[in-house]
Amino acid sequence: VDIFYDVSAESSTEFPDRLSLMEVRLQAQEDEITLLKSSLADALRKLRLHDQQIPLLKQQLIAGKRNSLFHCANIKIFPALLKSRDSQEKTKQRLSKKAASSTNLLTRSPSQSIKMFIRGRPITMYIPSNILNYEELRMDLPLQKLDLDWVYGYRGRDCRANLYLLPSGEAVYFIACVVVLYHIRNQTQRHYQKHTDCVRCLAIHPDKVRVASGQTAGVDKDGKPLQPFVHIWDSKTLVTLQQIGLGTFERGVGALTFSSSDAGTLLCVIDDSNEHMLSVWDWNKNIKHVEVKSTNEAILAVDFSPTDTNNIISCGKSHVYFWTMSTGTLTKKQGIFGKYKKPKFVLCFVFSLTGDVLTGDSEGNILTWGKSAADTKTLGKGAKETFQIMKQTRAHEGSVFAMCVLQGGAILSGGGKDRKVIRWSADLAPERECEIPEKFGAVRTIADVDGEELLVGTTRNAILRGTFSDGFVAIVQGHVDEMWGLATHPTQNIFISCGNDRQVCVWNAEDHKLDWCTTLEESGLCADFSPNGAVVSVGLSTGRWVVLDLQTKEVVSDLTDGNEQLSVMRYSPDGSFLAVGSHDNLIYIYNVTEGGRRYTRFGKCTGHSSFITHLDWSKDGKYIMSNSGDYEILYWDVASGCKLLRNRFESKDREWASYTCVLGFHVMGVWLEGSDGTDINALCRSHSESMVAVADDFCKVHLFQYPCPKPKAPSYKYEGHGSHVTNVRFTHNDSHLLSMGGKDTCILQWRVKGAAPGDHSKEHLASSSSVCSSSSSPVNGT
Ligand SMILES: *[C@@H]1O[C@H](CO)[C@@H](O)[C@H](O)[C@H]1NC(C)=O
Ligand SMILES: *[C@@H]1O[C@H](CO)[C@@H](O)[C@H](O)[C@H]1NC(C)=O
Ligand SMILES: *[C@@H]1O[C@H](CO)[C@@H](O)[C@H](O)[C@H]1NC(C)=O
Repeated sequence: VDIFYDVSAESSTEFPDRLSLMEVRLQAQEDEITLLKSSLADALRKLRLHDQQIPLLKQQLIAGKRNSLFHCANIKIFPALLKSRDSQEKTKQRLSKKAASSTNLLTRSPSQSIKMFIRGRPITMYIPSNILNYEELRMDLPLQKLDLDWVYGYRGRDCRANLYLLPSGEAVYFIACVVVLYHIRNQTQRHYQKHTDCVRCLAIHPDKVRVASGQTAGVDKDGKPLQPFVHIWDSKTLVTLQQIGLGTFERGVGALTFSSSDAGTLLCVIDDSNEHMLSVWDWNKNIKHVEVKSTNEAILAVDFSPTDTNNIISCGKSHVYFWTMSTGTLTKKQGIFGKYKKPKFVLCFVFSLTGDVLTGDSEGNILTWGKSAADTKTLGKGAKETFQIMKQTRAHEGSVFAMCVLQGGAILSGGGKDRKVIRWSADLAPERECEIPEKFGAVRTIADVDGEELLVGTTRNAILRGTFSDGFVAIVQGHVDEMWGLATHPTQNIFISCGNDRQVCVWNAEDHKLDWCTTLEESGLCADFSPNGAVVSVGLSTGRWVVLDLQTKEVVSDLTDGNEQLSVMRYSPDGSFLAVGSHDNLIYIYNVTEGGRRYTRFGKCTGHSSFITHLDWSKDGKYIMSNSGDYEILYWDVASGCKLLRNRFESKDREWASYTCVLGFHVMGVWLEGSDGTDINALCRSHSESMVAVADDFCKVHLFQYPCPKPKAPSYKYEGHGSHVTNVRFTHNDSHLLSMGGKDTCILQWRVKGAAPGDHSKEHLASSSSVCSSSSSPVNGT
């Protein structure tokens, strides 16, 4: 059991090459399955509808000939009947990725409408009557800009070498593409934002000021791999001092370290290629001294000997290597396990103050290594010295995930299964121990603060601070799996997040603290606050949805609609209705009473031919606008019984209380030429109605002017996320924007700043060629 646990806990970093290959294949298969499933579901639904629709269709065909100007009712039915074939087409297109996707050329029809095409599918938008001359509308940049204000989260789940304390009192760690410098006492953050994809490892220079950070390669928009690199930067000024390895490193940077006995002139890097190339650099001059294939097995850690820069040690799957560097070559000697059981993984090592090498492994042991003189008796005259185990110390149940040496020589170790932090004397006698609460997961990293106080990074993405005597409290927390649901409070700087880890978390955007968190029985995919701010409803993965009271934190309502995942929850502006959008193509409408505590089914909106992706209420609370997975825009008269408004032209002037639909006249310009319909996951209009923020599938957040009804509208682009951005929301008074990265488990908080017209920062306008590695697939999908 132990071994299996360790393997799974390790796999995401330990087998990056095989894993990424498998991930790509799995993703392709998942995509295909998703589409096949949705085609099948649609086909079945269509079969049922078919019988009812044939007579209706005939009628409408006849009516359509008479009334050719407003023909939306007719075109709605044809694509619906043709949908299954189209879905197969979609599968094919999806598999050949975005290359085959169609452009959204716009055509102007003589009536007051405009057509946009996504994947060859025409989407008609009717021009509101207050726009007298659409042709002459000019699209400008928004007057506001964004600044990264706060980063929620820490990547402890699958990265090591990920947490240090600087003499400035700042903890340095990373999540997504951002290295965070968090001043523990002042509770302030600074950010190093020069990485173009996920940061994977960090090293601190012996001067405790300079930092090296390595990233994954990422891929460009066509899925072509980009080149990873290491940045060396000054933690005081955040100035980049050097970039090394571009064109040398492959796939990503797995481990890196500065030398220490020569005042940190060298940097050793191990990349994520199959051979795990180990290279040593004079980083200041950007000169590579030596490069060697280290092993085909996973490598987990590397370091220079503190007393001799020519000695380097690396460890990983079932090995520990002792490297010697001389005149441009590196020779390796394998540590010999001899009569000791060879561990599945050697996960970490330290140099004790007495000069021994201590390794921590997946058997739960700390092994003390020493050099033995050459065994010339049995091996002959040419035999060389060997590295052998001198002592085995039982340390943890499960793996030893982390080790750290304190100033006086005491050693700390952290357990990957027993969640214990143990302090050992220099000769490895246990002195103190402490167990990390289960909800935070296992010990990933330990950083010494002052010999007494420690920082502990955990595998459930938390950073804890504390001492053996007083125990540990979390100073950084986050989600641990893909997130989709994000909502902001109507009157306070509070927001809620939910995702596949089944956690629903309530955050304070002012003091950046996690207010509280509750674990549900299923993944939470969408959420909305009631307009009175007293409750929040969360849509889950099986059609179930729950309403939580913000004060008591209790579930006040628990209902189910259909049996497919829910994609959107939205209260009407006065809070008297709740609309629940489902993957079963329906929107369920509820009467809401008792301030959001009581729900009674009012009706359901039937007519979409694919899953609901987004919806918004009109300002008067009577109508709904909705989008679906096959790029339909439909309007509904809710007040008079959830009636589909077949004449979409008549809804062109309606005002919307919120704007989160990604398809609509007012946001047509946010779509790029050649967009796949899944390139934009979410968008959100500001409450001021002057800007719209967009969450795209390529790690970017965009800020456009609102309304944005013309193609090629200019925008500011913001980087930081390391995976598809799944959601964006403005806080109640537009002081901040929150963006949610799906798989990067990171929430970014952006400060909205007014900018003088004409003050167009180049940095933000420059479009970057890099795109993050993990794009999502289905719109708002699983
Ligand atoms: C922390 O706060 C102190 C006192 O306000 C200030 O002098 C110091 O510069 C702050 N440090 C950081 C890194 O923000
Ligand atoms: C927004 O509201 C917060 C309180 O939630 C307040 O502190 C802040 O000053 C407001 N900002 C603006 C721009 O009105
Ligand atoms: C739900 O709301 C509608 C519209 O306000 C109202 O006519 C109806 O009586 C309400 N139903 C219930 C069960 O409260």
